Amino acid sequence: MPKLTVEGFGTVEVDDGKRLVLAIEQDAKVDILHACGGNARCTTCRVEFIDGEPELMTVAEKQVLTSKGATGVRLSCQIRCDHDMTVRAVSRLEGSGRPDPGGTPAPDITPQPEFIPRG
Ligand code: FES
Repeated sequence: MPKLTVEGFGTVEVDDGKRLVLAIEQDAKVDILHACGGNARCTTCRVEFIDGEPELMTVAEKQVLTSKGATGVRLSCQIRCDHDMTVRAVSRLEGSGRPDPGGTPAPDITPQPEFIPRG
């Protein structure tokens, strides 16, 4: 099982292939935001990678990061935990002023993922 480390929160083992956003919330117990419900629309699920950044990204992730001019971050709703990763949770419910983190994302990546090099 891959290991997920969230800086400041410790390391947990997660089911192989689990959506990173769900692993951060359910396994690492970090209050990460996912305002659009994991559909690559909001960027509130963004994380900074310290180690193990995936070489591939979904077309949807690339489009939304580009359109918002976001650099140095990845969308945890568009990534599967298929290897060890260390991330920094930079977008959390705490301190956001939001009433809730957003709808729970589906078990697998939405929209239907098409992977490309992160470039
Ligand atoms: S982009 Fe909205 S939850 Fe990932």
